[in-house]
Parts: sequence; C-alpha cells; structure tokens
Amino acid sequence: CRDRARAESAARDIRAELGTCAAGSAHDGDLLVRELDLASLRSVRRFCHRVLQEEPRLDVLINNAGIFQCPYMKTEDGFEMQFGVNHLGHFLLTNLLLGLLKSSAPSRVVVVSSKLYKYGEINFDDLNSEMNYNRSFCYSRSKLANILFTNELARRLEGTGVTVNALHPGICRTNLGRHVNVPLLAKPLLSFVSWAFFKTPLEGAQTSIYLASSPDVESVSGKYFGNCKEEELLPKAMDDLVARKLWDISEVMVGLLK
Ligand SMILES: NC(=O)c1ccc[n+]([C@@H]2O[C@H](COP(=O)([O-])OP(=O)(O)OC[C@H]3O[C@@H](n4cnc5c(N)ncnc54)[C@H](OP(=O)(O)O)[C@@H]3O)[C@@H](O)[C@H]2O)c1
Ligand SMILES: *[C@@H]1O[C@H](CO)[C@@H](O)[C@H](O)[C@H]1NC(C)=O
Repeated sequence: CRDRARAESAARDIRAELGTCAAGSAHDGDLLVRELDLASLRSVRRFCHRVLQEEPRLDVLINNAGIFQCPYMKTEDGFEMQFGVNHLGHFLLTNLLLGLLKSSAPSRVVVVSSKLYKYGEINFDDLNSEMNYNRSFCYSRSKLANILFTNELARRLEGTGVTVNALHPGICRTNLGRHVNVPLLAKPLLSFVSWAFFKTPLEGAQTSIYLASSPDVESVSGKYFGNCKEEELLPKAMDDLVARKLWDISEVMVGLLK
C-alpha cells in the first residue's frame, strides 16, 4: 500500500470477513500490510529487500496497481507517471523478486493489463513524454508495455517453472477513473451506465484469480487472457524486437544495468 491507515482498515475488513466465513480460519495464513509506492524506485527496492529478508517463498506475484489518465506528472525518479507506475515500477519489482520466484517454483506472475493497449505505441524517442503529453496515449502505451514485458519475461523464464501471463479485467466499477473529469450533467448518466454495464470489483478480479490459482493454466506462459480465456493479441503486442528493446531500456531506466 501507499497509505498505511487505509490499508490497515482494509486488512481489518478482510480478516473480519474471513473470520465469519466457514472455510476460512486464522490458520489459513497471515495478512500482512507492507508499504510500496510504485512511483518511487527507492520504495520498490526497500519493499523487495524486506520481502526477501522475511519471506522464505513467493508463489504468486500479481502486478495489479495502476494509474489511469492522470494529468502530466512525474514519478520520484522523473518518469512520466503512467509509464513509471504501470510499467517501470512493476518491472523493477518483478526483477528484484525473480530469484525468490524461481526458488519457489512452480510459481506464477500475473500482469494486469488492459484492452486499451490497442491504442498505444512504444515511442522510444519520448518515453517520458517530454515533447508531447496525451493522457490516453500514455495509459495505452503503459498497458502495451505490460504485455510486451509479459512476453519477454516468459521467454526468459522458459524451463524455470515460473510462468507469467497478462490479462484484461474488463471495465470495472473501481476508483480507476479518479483523474477523469466528468461534467456535472453527465454524472447521473455515467453512474447509470456504470451500475448497469460495468463489472463489480469481484467480477473484475476473476481472471486474475484464475491465472494466479487455476490448475488449468499450470504450465501456460506468455499468454493474454480475458474472462478466464486466452485471447488473441494485435501484432504490435507480439513484436519480439520491440519487447526486447523495451526490456533493455527499462533495465537502464530503473538502474538494474548501468
Ligand atoms: N477498472 C477498469 O475498468 C480497468 C480496466 C482495464 C484495466 N484495469 C487495470 O486494473 C488494475 C487495477 O485497477 P482498478 O480498476 O482496481 O483501479 P483503482 O481502484 O484505482 O486501483 C488501483 C490501485 O493501484 C494502486 N496504486 C496506484 N498508484 C500506485 C503507486 N504509485 N504505488 C502503489 N500503488 C498504487 C492504488 O492505490 P491507492 O488506493 O493508494 O490509490 C489502488 O490500490 C490497473 O492495473 C488497471 O490499469 C482496470
Ligand atoms: C491521444 O491519444 C489517443 C490514443 O492513442 C488518440 O486516439 C487521440 O487522437 C490522441 N489525441 C490527440 C489530441 O492527439
């Protein structure tokens, strides 16, 4: 989490729900709250350092945090915010935890992308959008980066027993739209559309849960899913050369390679 108080309160709700649920018991596991700001490489490093010190194994990593169409902002390290959080922060996080995932194999990485990847492009000449900022384009670019990252990581993990798959959750009624300004008069319409057609968070989480836990996908890696089924990708999301180049540049940007 970024906000410890809100996270502790969410953890209390989950513990209370598990306590009243017949199948759950206190012995099923511990729910721990840890601070992690994906807009800060220092925070990602500190979080991973602690996990590596405290946890003997890591079975599943779900890269789910995301920021959508915010005004132009930069991360602590000077990256455009959507690319920095949605792609680079998770890129460093996954890389620092890779050793533990490997020693825990069979294990899984699940990457939450979006169908909006279709409108993105990896414009290597302006990854921080300093020349031109388009908030929709930058969200789509970061979600395309999630899929290219998944493909390249799957290739690197062949034979290790660690799988990695990407997914789109569908349109869900969450806080993702917090930076989008809806005109006052359109608000009732949007609430209606959202109530009638958007998925609930519980429904939206199903494909992540499926990829994290189903025996059906035990040995599936490098694929893209929606509604718990494999889906086709546009050629731009399957371009191995772009995936490779994005990986190499990301390594330099997050300081894994100097
Ligand atoms: N909702 C949709 O319709 C939809 C569609 C396609 C894809 N997705 C993807 O689904 C994923 C989950 O989004 P959501 O819909 O659940 O949106 P959400 O309600 O806004 O949740 C996003 C989560 O990411 C966290 N986060 C944002 N920036 C962070 C940072 N710098 N460091 C650490 N955590 C950070 C937020 O933490 P705080 O609580 O502290 O803000 C929040 O918990 C995202 O990757 C999104 O791109 C969503
Ligand atoms: C911003 O990007 C989106 C998605 O890539 C595109 O459809 C739109 O035309 C762009 N807007 C401008 C003003 O260039």
